[in-house]
Amino acid sequence: MPQSPSSTRRLVILISGRGSNMQALVRACRDEAWPAEVRAVVASRPDAAGLQWAQEQGIATAALYHKDFPSREAFDTALAQEIDRHEPDYVLLAGFMRVLTPAFVNHYAGRLVNIHPSLLPMFPGLHTHAQALATGVRLHGCTVHFVTPVLDHGPIIAQGCVPVLAGDTPEALAGRVLAVEHQVYPAAVRWLAQGRVRLTSDQRVEVDGEPPRLFMGAGAA
Ligand code: GRF
Repeated sequence: MPQSPSSTRRLVILISGRGSNMQALVRACRDEAWPAEVRAVVASRPDAAGLQWAQEQGIATAALYHKDFPSREAFDTALAQEIDRHEPDYVLLAGFMRVLTPAFVNHYAGRLVNIHPSLLPMFPGLHTHAQALATGVRLHGCTVHFVTPVLDHGPIIAQGCVPVLAGDTPEALAGRVLAVEHQVYPAAVRWLAQGRVRLTSDQRVEVDGEPPRLFMGAGAA
């Protein structure tokens, strides 16, 4: 899967907003001395709050505003050009709120990773926390997965779970899920950087030869 011959994996992170998952990845990469480097943070809008934080860390940043492009294809082509300047081994979607074209996804096959705030395959799409509350599930969480052309779908690298508590609001549940996201995404990317992740012939992920790990977030029994 990795492209670069050196042992330092090059990472590019894509954001659209506050970028708390991006911050968790940058901090873990630095503090845990991963064999990896965050080469750039690219946003889908110039006002993405996470850009300033990334700049303050000395990370290259760029913003492409989708409204400046005539089509989804044109935006994705420009986005891929910006990403490929950094020759990434992995492209990490961290709250990147754009549906990507199949051409873009296929260009990064096996190298494009996303975090989604639900236990996939439950609740793809938006408003996952409200969906969880509406259905009455007792367990909710997040999933880190390889991206395929099907939205919020693809081989699962790791999941994190939290209980749904009596009286939860979408906001309270989102906060509990976000805390476990900040554990699960860095762990999954660390495994990728360390070359411990393998895709089986039937499109399942193994980490060190084992099934993907489940993280227990706050309140989990
Ligand atoms: C996270 O909940 C992530 O799972 C979802 O969008 C949110 C982004 O939050 N895709 P942040 O920008 O990482 O703080």
